[in-house]
Amino acid sequence: MSKQLILALSKGRILDETLPLLADAGIVPAEDLSKSRKLLFDTNLDDVKLVIIRATDVPTYVQMGAADLGVAGKDVLLEHGAEGLYEPLDLEIAKCKLMTAGIDGAKPARVRRRVATKFVNVARRYYAEQGIQAEVIKLYGAMELAPLMNLADEIVDIVDTGNTLRANGMSPRELIAPISTRLVVNKAAMTMKHERLKPLLARLSQAVERRR
Ligand code: ADP
Ligand code: PRP
Ligand code: MG
Repeated sequence: MSKQLILALSKGRILDETLPLLADAGIVPAEDLSKSRKLLFDTNLDDVKLVIIRATDVPTYVQMGAADLGVAGKDVLLEHGAEGLYEPLDLEIAKCKLMTAGIDGAKPARVRRRVATKFVNVARRYYAEQGIQAEVIKLYGAMELAPLMNLADEIVDIVDTGNTLRANGMSPRELIAPISTRLVVNKAAMTMKHERLKPLLARLSQAVERRR
């Protein structure tokens, strides 16, 4: 293993909140990320590089050791599974909830409930735990549309303000898990690169605490 540390960041919503936190911990990209089509970036630290990838790809990069550590939503981690990953730090950003939701006032009538979601593993596990028969339908976005179009009886999705549900005549039902953004570390790197990782994790942890 090289002495370098590769840090995988989720692009999109989480990135905007991650960069100030990294800056507080002393890690600053060498160029303006938003002005570049590049995916791999140098930082102010010689031995730390950043990759900016799809949120759902972060656990894969870190698990396989292509990145040493990463920043990902708990929702993505629950869906992907934790094999090969440590989750040492809650970054306490992009907080939201993973919930079931349905059309206002509608009762889930069918014995076998049709559930539309991009979180198919989380959904299967959740309904099995509840003893509810569910047919899980994989979608890639706009889950809120599925019950309106009679594609599903219920959805499993992220809820923050609830505006998206309300705007579509739906309401939240059950909480599956509170969500926030987590730091994940490759298990082998945690041992092999411990000396380099330890101060970095400590500074990130302090940066999180300063924001409380
Ligand atoms: P995607 O294109 O994969 O939906 P986003 O940038 O929308 O990516 O979301 C990335 C992560 O941000 C999610 O995995 C989740 O942890 C969190 N998140 C998503 N939606 C919200 C929201 N409305 N409010 C707060 N956090 C959210
Ligand atoms: C996310 C999520 C919900 C919405 C919840 O969608 O999938 O649709 O935010 O937030 P709210 O409760 O504050 O309305 P996003 O905007 O990320 O769109 P996406 O489908 O492209 O992921
Ligand atoms: Mg989104």
